[in-house]
Amino acid sequence: MIKILVIHGPNLNLLGSREPEVYGPDTLASIDQALAQLAAHHDIKIETLQSNIEGEIVGRIQQAGSDQTRFIIINPAAFTHTSVAIRDAFLASTVPFIEVHLSNIYAREDFRKHSYLSDIAIGVISGLGKDSYLLAFEAAVNLSKQSNSKRNQ
Ligand code: DQA
Repeated sequence: MIKILVIHGPNLNLLGSREPEVYGPDTLASIDQALAQLAAHHDIKIETLQSNIEGEIVGRIQQAGSDQTRFIIINPAAFTHTSVAIRDAFLASTVPFIEVHLSNIYAREDFRKHSYLSDIAIGVISGLGKDSYLLAFEAAVNLSKQSNSKRNQ
């Protein structure tokens, strides 16, 4: 079974009450539940991690390189704009990933316009709230299934 990992970065555990005018009304639990439903529909194994700790995220990306994870969806949150360590973990693990943001980071403060990950991501979805995750998941499923059928040819 294809396995997809979803990583939520710092402060995303507070979704629902955290700046709802910026990040929307959805809680992290409701986002994870919608992703789990989508995964079940597509017969995909999904794992999720929320962490406020950079090293924990780095460790999980490293692990994904050797535990059969086919694809990663990540909202790196504030680490988007600061973390060379997360970038290097993706380069080392070579697991393809999509970067997502609930808000449109290009319509906000200048410091949010730079991402340490976008140029090494397969794609970036920003500004669509909960749908950023759901659309990224659909894309990850399609890409994973394509690479599966190539492997089986
Ligand atoms: C965010 C945008 C980041 O700039 C911010 O630090 C976050 C959330 C988003 O989903 O819109 O914590 O990644």
